[in-house]
Amino acid sequence: TDCFTYDPGFTSTGSCESKITYIDGEEGILMHRGYSIEELAEKSDFMEVCYLLLHGELPNGSEKENFERSITYHTMLHEQMMNFFRGFRRDSHPMAIMVGVVGAMSAFYHDSTDISDPHQRMVASHRLIAKMPTIAANAYKYSVGQPFVYPRNNLNYAENFLQMTFSVPAEDYVVNPVLARAMDRIFILHADHEQNASTSTVRIAGSSGANPFACIAAGIASLWGPAHGGANEAVLKMLQEIGHKDRIPEFIERAKNKDDPFRLMGFGHRVYKNYDPRAAVMRTSCHEVLAELGVEDPLLELAMELEKLALSDPYFAEKKLFPNVDFYSGIILKAMNFPTSMFTVLFALARTVGWVAQWKEMIEDPNQKISRPRQLYTGHTARSYTELKDR
Ligand code: CMC
Repeated sequence: TDCFTYDPGFTSTGSCESKITYIDGEEGILMHRGYSIEELAEKSDFMEVCYLLLHGELPNGSEKENFERSITYHTMLHEQMMNFFRGFRRDSHPMAIMVGVVGAMSAFYHDSTDISDPHQRMVASHRLIAKMPTIAANAYKYSVGQPFVYPRNNLNYAENFLQMTFSVPAEDYVVNPVLARAMDRIFILHADHEQNASTSTVRIAGSSGANPFACIAAGIASLWGPAHGGANEAVLKMLQEIGHKDRIPEFIERAKNKDDPFRLMGFGHRVYKNYDPRAAVMRTSCHEVLAELGVEDPLLELAMELEKLALSDPYFAEKKLFPNVDFYSGIILKAMNFPTSMFTVLFALARTVGWVAQWKEMIEDPNQKISRPRQLYTGHTARSYTELKDR
């Protein structure tokens, strides 16, 4: 009687209405609330983009000031949460720490969990955006055995994150404005990407009316996988393995060979069948950061050559495989001194606003229902129970 569609991987199922992000995969277009990602990356800053995603419009002067004040106000973690980090093994993956600590926020911030109250929803959203850099930096500090560095509210969002990550009490740390701007741009490029796996996870978790902090922890868990947020780490490993320009053709042949599981990491996308617009901005940023730091990373030259050769190969053209956002981001992050285990953490930090904006849109949707996919049952037909002695 009821209509049923079997769609593994949800390749053709629309799960919601949304006004936040538009992607045209054929043309390689990404827009947030109607503004192109290229223009936002060039002219805006991450705080503005957060406001835009959450509220639908760019803020005016006083709205921006109030929003930044609220985010700044919430950057500290409850001191008992600082102890929470110390319970993890030193060698824990920082994503594991992040899943745990963000989930634990549900036990600390009870006054922002009544999701029927718009004010509490706003406070939960601001707390998540504000505390994520502190959590990410703490996860890093803990892994290298250095003391936690508290937020400094005279710095902007990206600057503050860099100082919490890289400053040590014994030395003066001055934030390099070029690096802070590049960090801010990386956050903008990762802020939202409509109904990807982690965002859909947040929406599904939240559709039952669950605690918002616990829902974001679920999103972080989903992002951790190598087919999603873990790809930037894989690109770097691949470039290191290729090692020299002369070996690129060999790896391209491997990627084309169906009997070889190897794929060109940072290439291809479920939605983009054209150059990922974020990859183009990332490539420019990559050149700027390396020039600023005076780093000559042979991996960048290797990446550009790989891109050139792959794009001129009929296999990649026919299958419409182009560089995605992860292709160049690993090289910038490496130049900025982030260990590879932090790459996905930075993605999670930046994507938090997207998760929160999508969660808020869902809660405020009058047609919202609990998400409950159906299944195609392929198990046993009915049979009788066998007593233990007879099995
Ligand atoms: N190298 C070689 N061949 C590829 C690649 C690649 N990177 N990506 C796809 N193909 C081929 C694939 O073998 C298949 O060929 P055929 O039709 O002959 O079987 C065809 O292209 C379609 O691939 P698919 O796996 O069916 O496509 P999908 O939409 O399920 O997968 C993807 C998309 C991103 C998982 C995939 O392109 C991939 O594994 N890329 C490498 C990993 C990567 O860079 N991931 C980051 C994605 S962007 C950031 C994010 O979402 O977090």
